[in-house]
Amino acid sequence: MKSIVGHSFTKMNLTVYVSLFEKHMKLLLLNMNDNQKFSPTILIPKFSLNVIIEILISKEIPYSDREDSVLTQLINPVKELSDSLSIDISDYISIFKPFFYFKRLKYKNTAKHVFNLMNEIYMDHFETLDYKKPRDVMDELIIETEGDQKSVIHVCLDIFAAGVDTSAHFIEFLLLYLTNHPEYQEKIYQEIMTIVNDNKSLDFIFYKDCDINKLEFLDACIKETLRLRPIVFLGLPRVATEDTMIKDIFVPKGTQIIGNVFGILNSESYIKSPSIFKPERWIEYYRAKKQNPNVFENSLYNNLDKISVHFGIGNRSCLGKNLTVIQAIVCITNILYKYKLEPFDGKLIDDTEQWSVVIKPKHYNLKLIKR
Ligand code: HEM
Repeated sequence: MKSIVGHSFTKMNLTVYVSLFEKHMKLLLLNMNDNQKFSPTILIPKFSLNVIIEILISKEIPYSDREDSVLTQLINPVKELSDSLSIDISDYISIFKPFFYFKRLKYKNTAKHVFNLMNEIYMDHFETLDYKKPRDVMDELIIETEGDQKSVIHVCLDIFAAGVDTSAHFIEFLLLYLTNHPEYQEKIYQEIMTIVNDNKSLDFIFYKDCDINKLEFLDACIKETLRLRPIVFLGLPRVATEDTMIKDIFVPKGTQIIGNVFGILNSESYIKSPSIFKPERWIEYYRAKKQNPNVFENSLYNNLDKISVHFGIGNRSCLGKNLTVIQAIVCITNILYKYKLEPFDGKLIDDTEQWSVVIKPKHYNLKLIKR
């Protein structure tokens, strides 16, 4: 199943979806006004949600959404489900399980409700499917699985739950750090001006023009945000299928292993001054590597590529990593091309993360100053 879904998210197919990012970015820009308050923690999740549901099931939620639509009804319970997945001590110490009985019961009921809502969307897709012209990931899954209803619904719900908040919180953090560092905004703006040939009157910047080699500093800011605030702070649980030695540690068969993504990316053992947002470290790293490709070969310290586990590693690594980065590029280039970002109340924005099943910034507001 992952190979079918993965295919829809590969880089090549993503180019097909870029026009969707752009469409939703244009809608987002319509909700941004000069000198007015802009709340990334409210509007970016909507932008992100629209991108994912359009790719998955060809639907969209207007910015002034109707409370009664199936989609709007789907969103809150899915969020509830994600939140209920946050750290629960009974997952680790079974003696505590009875104390979480009611929480689990509520979770089961919500899961059933969400499944039924997604089932309505599935039936609608199934009845209107054109086998020669799949409209979205759900259509492709129906075709590939020959209508395995349960699996298709579960996969779509998984992607929905995994994709919406992650992408949104990442872009919210990125905007936060750029606002707190106007000097970095300026650097990215200068890069953008090179790709638009100093033209200050374009309506929109298209992704096809965003050669990442020319947007080197934006790339570094994206990587630094994902390093400092890796939204999914723990990897997916794995189980050792046989007795294994990792260096001098014996791992018996059956042991559950969870990668500490946040720990690796924020450890003094691997990186200098890890708690500082410093995109330059990526520029310096790639320059050093260009001069001598083997310079970090035998070291984990400052080997930024090797410790970049923010999307996981191996067969179970993140399915949406390309999608998320392209979405961020479309979003940031278009916002910074039009506006300078300032904290709404003039004070540095608090970048302390909030922890649930993912990490996210606290609510904050920006002021948009037209360039
Ligand atoms: C900044 C945004 C994101 C981050 C930091 C992130 C991070 C991760 C991480 C760390 C994992 C676990 C990998 C492992 O344990 O090896 C994962 C898995 C996954 N991610 Fe993401 N993700 C992001 C966005 C997305 C998006 C936008 C989607 C979907 C459109 C998505 C879909 C998935 C799925 C389906 C899995 C499970 C893969 C599997 O079961 O094999 N993610 N992600």
